[in-house]
Formats: sequence, C-alpha cells, structure tokens
Amino acid sequence: MKTVTVLGATGSVGRRTLELIAQFPEEFRVGGLAARGSNLRALAEQIRVHRPEAVALLDPSAVDALARELATPRPELLAGPDGLVTLAASVKADIVLSALVGGAGLLPTLAAIRAGRTVALANKETLVMAGALMTTAAREHGVALLPVDSEHSAIFQCLAGGRPSEVKRLILTASGGPFAKLSPEALERVTVEQALQHPTWRMGTKITIDSATLMNKGLEIIEGHWLFGMPFERVDVVVHPQSIVHSMVEFVDGSVLAQLGVPDMGIPILYALSFPYRLPCAAPTLDVVKVGALTFDAPDPVRFPCLRLAREAGMAGGAAPVVLNAANEIAVAAFLKGRCRFMDIPRLIADALDAHGAATADDLAACLAVDAEVRRWTEAAVARRLQS
Ligand SMILES: NC(=O)c1ccc[n+]([C@@H]2O[C@H](COP(=O)([O-])OP(=O)(O)OC[C@H]3O[C@@H](n4cnc5c(N)ncnc54)[C@H](OP(=O)(O)O)[C@@H]3O)[C@@H](O)[C@H]2O)c1
Repeated sequence: MKTVTVLGATGSVGRRTLELIAQFPEEFRVGGLAARGSNLRALAEQIRVHRPEAVALLDPSAVDALARELATPRPELLAGPDGLVTLAASVKADIVLSALVGGAGLLPTLAAIRAGRTVALANKETLVMAGALMTTAAREHGVALLPVDSEHSAIFQCLAGGRPSEVKRLILTASGGPFAKLSPEALERVTVEQALQHPTWRMGTKITIDSATLMNKGLEIIEGHWLFGMPFERVDVVVHPQSIVHSMVEFVDGSVLAQLGVPDMGIPILYALSFPYRLPCAAPTLDVVKVGALTFDAPDPVRFPCLRLAREAGMAGGAAPVVLNAANEIAVAAFLKGRCRFMDIPRLIADALDAHGAATADDLAACLAVDAEVRRWTEAAVARRLQS
C-alpha cells in the first residue's frame, strides 16, 4: 500500500490520479491534497471520498469557504504557499504527485524532495525553472523523480532497453497541436476557442495553449535534459499527429525503441504510481489496425518560434529557462484573457529573454527573484502592447 499526496488535485492530471487511486484501493491511499482553491466543490467531494490527513490551498482566502463545505471530522487545513510546502514535506507519503500548474509548484515539489519523498512529476515548469537545483536535491536525498508526462514516461520505459552509455538520442513526439498546418498569416488571427481545441489530448488550459504554440514541446526538451541527463543536442523533436507513439530512444547500434499507447494520461500516471511494477489500466486498448498509419514530420521552428526559444534558453542555461517560463506563463494567461494575440506569446517571451536572459540564477533565492521580476516585466509589456 503506497500513500500518495496529490499537488494539483482538482486539475486534469490530479483528477485522473485520484480516479486511479480509487480504482486500486489495495494499492494506494491518499495522504494529502493541494490545489489553488478555485474549485472548492470538486475538492470537497475529493476530500469526502479519499479522506486525506491534510489539505492545502494556495489561496488563503478560500480556506474558510472550504471548511464550510466539509463535514466534521475534517482534515487539517493549511493555507498559502507555506501551507503547500508543509503539506508536501510533513504529511507522511511514499509518493508526492506534483501536478500543480506553473512555477507555483516549485517550492512544494522541492520540499517533497528534501523530505525524501519519491516525486511523480507532471509539473514540468518546475524542472524548467530549477532543473539543476531539483536534480541535485534529488541525488542528495536519494529521491527518484518519476516522469508523469507521457513523452518522458515513454522515454523512461524505453531506457530500460539499454545502458545509459548506449543511448544515442531521445526523440520526443509532438502532436503538432491544432494549428500544425496554418500559415503564418492565419496564426496571427487564431482565437482562444480555437487554441483550446487540442486534436488528441484533453488537458488544463495552460498546457493546451502551450501545445498550440509548441512551447509545451520546448519545455519538454528542457525537462528531458534534466530528467535523463541528456545534452540538448541529443534531444530531438518530431511531429506525430496521431499521438500514439509517445516518444522514442535511439541506441548506438541503430535500434530505436518506442512506447505506444492510446492518448490517455491514465497510462503514464499509473506507471509512475506503480513503478517498478505495472497494474492493469482501464484505458482503452490500442488497436493499431484501426489507427492505420503513423506519420512523422519535422517541426517548423519558423512558424512555431517557441520551440526554438525554449531550446536556446535551455542551452544558454543560467536564468534563461526561468525567464522563458515566467514570460510564457504571463503571456499565456494574457492570451487566455484576450489581452494579447496568439503570436504575441513568442514575441513577449523573446523580448523578456533579450531583457533578462543573461541574468544568473545559481540558487533558489536568485531563481525566485528572476521569476518574480520577469513576471512583473512581462505584465507591463502586455499592458504597453494593449495601449499601443
Ligand atoms: N493535463 C495533462 O494531460 C498533462 C500532461 C502532462 C503534463 N501535464 C502538466 O501537469 C501540470 C498540471 O496540468 P493540468 O492540465 O492538470 O492543469 P489544470 O487542469 O489547469 O490543473 C491545475 C491544478 O493546479 C492548480 N492551480 C492552477 N493554477 C495555479 C496556480 N497559479 N498556482 C497554484 N496552483 C494552481 C489548480 O487548482 P484549482 O483547481 O484550485 O485552480 C489545479 O489543481 C502542468 O504542469 C502540465 O504541464 C499535464
């Protein structure tokens, strides 16, 4: 029986994780739950079903409202960023599944690592911001960072097919998003509704926009670099619209191993929870005959500059990935609120990298300072664009 704390319990990954935990009551139980605090009804229902020891809300003003939704006895309720850190570090858990969205996940995920808890990582933004800090902390505390992202879970599974020294390169697959075939002119005009229509995956809004700009794949290049210790030049991307091959590993002898499956996050989440074993997942089985053709194309870094910006920021190191991530989070939020256009997202990120990319972020304090400064700077840049 493993105890699992879920950070981001009310999100797309969090809800799927709790469904899986409910399907395997002999294997898993919930330790703690955390969310921002914007879906209190859903969270209260999760608390009723899973009876966590403690619950943390990032938004302290939502705690009283949650308390009113709960019958007594109720779990310990923690509030604010410190509450999330306390939950991740102090509630007894074998695994902390990190599925908050964005940089807000960094401190609780780091706290889980420092407390020696296995981390199942969906929240890729944390590794982009602080890959060196997180992987060093994981090594020092003997903690496994298990991938939840379907691409990195695929690579993790394929890597079992050889020794680390035998790996030639990692090949991440990208669906290409809803705009894979649009012209540069048409990309300037896409709406929020169109950008939220992902062709193969149902996910939270931020990652859905990241998938449409291909920033998601850019973040995944950096994630792959840190999770598997692979130089950036040996992490490639191919566009695979069917989302059946979740990623591949090429070995020195020319063999390429791939992991295939239906596009259902249940598969990689369950693998991270049950690792090193496998449990029967209720996801539909893959019918390769029905799928028919599997196609692969090169990505277009001109129409989708986010992919290039992310690779360059990863290779530059220092504060550049922190800047990339912070500017992207602000730009995506602005696009979702109709405050900037779709193609302003890469422009805002490029401008932020020009202004702040050469900074250093050697420790946590410096990383958080750059993150806060770039968020302010990008907000101001969005406001300037609106006025002009
Ligand atoms: N969805 C997928 O299929 C998928 C696949 C691979 C990787 N991932 C990664 O997993 C993470 C979660 O994705 P998701 O799609 O599950 O996101 P989501 O559906 O938007 O859910 C996000 C969760 O984080 C909380 N949250 C939202 N904004 C927050 C903020 N500013 N600060 C702190 N917490 C916040 C939400 O709480 P409230 O409900 O209270 O707002 C919710 O519990 C992301 O890093 C994403 O890139 C997702």
